[in-house]
Amino acid sequence: MQSEYMHWAKTQSATRYNLSSSEVPHFRLDRLNLTIEDLDLDGASHPRYLPLRQSIASQYSFDPEGVVAADGTSMANFLAMAALIAPGDEVIFEQPAYEPMLSAAEFLGADIKRVARSPATDFRFDIDQLKAIVSERTRLIVLANLHNPSGALTSEADLQEIGSIAEGADAHVLVDEVYLDSAVPPQPTSALLGPRFVVTNSLTKVYGLSGLRCGWILADPGLARRMWRLNDLFGVNQAHQAERLACFAFAHLDEISAGTAERLRANRAMFNRFVAERDDIDCMTAEHGITVFPRWAGRDSEALDALLRSKYDASVVPGRWFELPEHFRVGLGGDTGLLVEGLARLGAALDELR
Ligand SMILES: Cc1ncc(COP(=O)(O)O)c(C=O)c1O
Repeated sequence: MQSEYMHWAKTQSATRYNLSSSEVPHFRLDRLNLTIEDLDLDGASHPRYLPLRQSIASQYSFDPEGVVAADGTSMANFLAMAALIAPGDEVIFEQPAYEPMLSAAEFLGADIKRVARSPATDFRFDIDQLKAIVSERTRLIVLANLHNPSGALTSEADLQEIGSIAEGADAHVLVDEVYLDSAVPPQPTSALLGPRFVVTNSLTKVYGLSGLRCGWILADPGLARRMWRLNDLFGVNQAHQAERLACFAFAHLDEISAGTAERLRANRAMFNRFVAERDDIDCMTAEHGITVFPRWAGRDSEALDALLRSKYDASVVPGRWFELPEHFRVGLGGDTGLLVEGLARLGAALDELR
């Protein structure tokens, strides 16, 4: 078992006008007043580094006993699913979905069913379809909010409805919120909607700290304890310096995220204008998030990405990685100047392939 998408993403050569990234630019730690004492290895993480759990919990007014640390949202997703899924359990996933999450569920032996998010309904999670396919074998319903790749926001009312459907089946809802802090206006975590909800997140996409691998799970404390115990099989503890750096980052989160919301707003507006001026792509209006997922009139976007890489020093993510080959994903997190040029190059490549 492996993640084909992750392998592809890691083995592509870098491009200057990178529209394939789904995160904001890396934050430079030398902008903060950090000393080597801040990274002391004393007081290592046994059994669960409380200051970090408290830092995470205080972001959400959540119980620190319900916080589980993990290496990135990736490991948080794996750990959460490993605690919630037994081989043969039915798991309902959104479609399109973030492939490594889907592959992780397959690795755990889940019997996977899908709920559509259709471009025709702006990638809204189809609750009627969920109602039609949920069964007494359903143990977990999985979605990302904001959705990757489209950036669609799932409303609190829809989340509550998904929660009551899960309740009826005695299942949980796993919500990957790695992009949620780029919603407009800011949205509360669905972990506050009740014990059926399990939420994963990290300081990667929206905060530019992906190298830190600070991820977490928010869950009911009983479930969180099971996840901690399960983590004894995987990595036992996080690297303690990373835990300390993460606490430092939480204490400076305003500074770290300064300017991000404004840049994303400007970049989304620029992308929306780009779409309005073209007749060969269409896309729901970018309102939230870091990624958008336009449709390219009837064409396989693999060819578009290949041309961008070979001739324009630019890149997008071909839609085949999200099961919709006529679409492609564009990341809007980068520097605005680079995005202007990146979109110009994307336009030139689309013209060339017309
Ligand atoms: C929905 C989703 N979850 C998780 C991840 C991985 O996040 P992290 O870098 O925190 O492991 C990604 C990365 O693209 C993602 O899109």
